[in-house]
Amino acid sequence: MELSVALIQQSPLWANLEYNCQIIQQTIHQTDADILVFPELATSGYFFTSKEDLMPHSIDVHCDICKTFHTMAREKNAIIVIGFAERDKDTLYNSAMLLFPHEEKPIVYRKTHLFYKEFLCFSPGNTGFFVVEDTAKDVRVGTMICYDWRFPESARTLGLRGADIIVCPSNLVTDVWHIAMPCRALENKVYMAVANRYGTEKVGDEELTFKGESALWGYNGAIMAKALPHGDAIVYGGIQPQLTRSKSFNSVNDIFRDRRPEMYV
Ligand code: ACM
Repeated sequence: MELSVALIQQSPLWANLEYNCQIIQQTIHQTDADILVFPELATSGYFFTSKEDLMPHSIDVHCDICKTFHTMAREKNAIIVIGFAERDKDTLYNSAMLLFPHEEKPIVYRKTHLFYKEFLCFSPGNTGFFVVEDTAKDVRVGTMICYDWRFPESARTLGLRGADIIVCPSNLVTDVWHIAMPCRALENKVYMAVANRYGTEKVGDEELTFKGESALWGYNGAIMAKALPHGDAIVYGGIQPQLTRSKSFNSVNDIFRDRRPEMYV
């Protein structure tokens, strides 16, 4: 069965939760796909340098807006993944809400590897890497966020846990990830879906530029679809999750069975 994936490339307004959530809502309304992926911190904007500044733009995953997004996922029968600044009592996490049409509640992945000044606002994620299965669509979805890509263990863990597709809400500020993502796809035989934001944000005299080029790679590492570096875009691709499940690539070798973990650090 082929499933459609939509990678949403946007540029959220910094510290404007209400506006960003409206745009996300509109985009969900207008987008028909089995899996929709939004960028990292799509609700809040990215560049905060204190917990106090970010706190008013963070949300609890049980809040009304998350419930609304989840209701939309049910109505559209779509899996929706949205990066957001998550508040859990006094703690902030750089998280993704995973909205599955047949799950009762939103599921949360909290970014494992914090990047640059994120340490000033967020606590390191404590959920670990996990895979969620949608049995109706017959797809197993693993999530990592942006800088998690620099650690091959992230994608490997998701691959070993049975992911067919790794979705990666991102706010990438370099270009080197274009080298790594297809490798992560190939070496784990999984689809790799990066929804990246574009635009700039400035704090004091420091400016960050986000690189766009949201992209989908096939399980053999081939690029399937890619957005431009700048501008709103929705990148679509079709995936066949079942084709990722045998890890063999000839009559002898199987990339998971051939692993020799006792030889690794
Ligand atoms: C990043 O993790 N936002 C680069």
